[in-house]
Amino acid sequence: MTADIDQATLMRVYGTGIGSTAAEGLWNRAFAADRYGIDGWSDPAAVEAWEKLADIGRRCGHDPRRLVSGSKSLGVGIITRSRVTDGFLAEFRRLYPTSHQIVIVGIGLDTRPQRLADEAATWIGVDFDGSVTLREKLFDDDPVVCVAQSVTEPGWCDMLDPDVPTCLIAEGLLRYFTTGEVQSFMKAVTGHMQAPVWLVADTHHTSPAALPLKKIVADTTGRPVSFAVDSAAGLAGLCPGWRPVAEMPLTGAHTWAGRAGGLFTLATGEYTYSCKVIAWDGPDHRPAAQ
Ligand SMILES: C[S@@+](CC[C@H](N)C(=O)[O-])C[C@H]1O[C@@H](n2cnc3c(N)ncnc32)[C@H](O)[C@@H]1O
Repeated sequence: MTADIDQATLMRVYGTGIGSTAAEGLWNRAFAADRYGIDGWSDPAAVEAWEKLADIGRRCGHDPRRLVSGSKSLGVGIITRSRVTDGFLAEFRRLYPTSHQIVIVGIGLDTRPQRLADEAATWIGVDFDGSVTLREKLFDDDPVVCVAQSVTEPGWCDMLDPDVPTCLIAEGLLRYFTTGEVQSFMKAVTGHMQAPVWLVADTHHTSPAALPLKKIVADTTGRPVSFAVDSAAGLAGLCPGWRPVAEMPLTGAHTWAGRAGGLFTLATGEYTYSCKVIAWDGPDHRPAAQ
């Protein structure tokens, strides 16, 4: 979708080319439930932020709607991903109810902090400078403290309190990284944190069966999927000290790609696209002797 839009305009509105990939998520959280008849979802903060984005876009001669694919598969997928991630976050909060950090890496225009009231949480967001600046324009009273830095560069987690249990959320992010970048991201966390950490992240499978789903992402965001991994155990195995916790498929039976994914799961026990949860239990944790 971004290929035919002037890059200078994207930079003016979104600060970075990749920051514009956040528009698809925002629009779908705002409008996909009505458009596709999805029950039990509403996100008024996303509607309000979208209206402000459209206004900023108008002043720059850009209609952000042009970045939205209008794909039902993607719209349903984004709401499913938001719900599944919210569910894992709720589990994390039950484990550490009195105080926790929720760190959204590649936060873009995520409305989770607006959607989920959480008195016990410190919300931190990390994204490029331009994305953080746009976020500040779209959300009044944002509870998030934003760090304008790439999470593939050292130092991004200096803002995190090492002694507070932390849930890292990476939605629609790791796909843009190399395997080496994912590893150094995970290593930065274990090098900094003392308290337990969960990482909740969506990723695709490496199998050719995941190619149609990866193509939808590349076609809609203009960015190819570069990182893929086969399971939560595979993700955890990329860096010492992490362990798999849970995994939920993000493909539904409403599209042929989702139905093909179901067959793939029947055959292999793995998912073409899923939300994975992995944990790091702190530097003093030693796995029980076998
Ligand atoms: C597809 S958007 C997803 C935004 C948000 N997580 C959501 O679900 O709506 C990807 C976001 O990741 C950000 N991003 C990409 N690479 C990044 C990096 N190396 N460090 C920090 N943010 C990054 C982009 O700027 C963009 O805001």
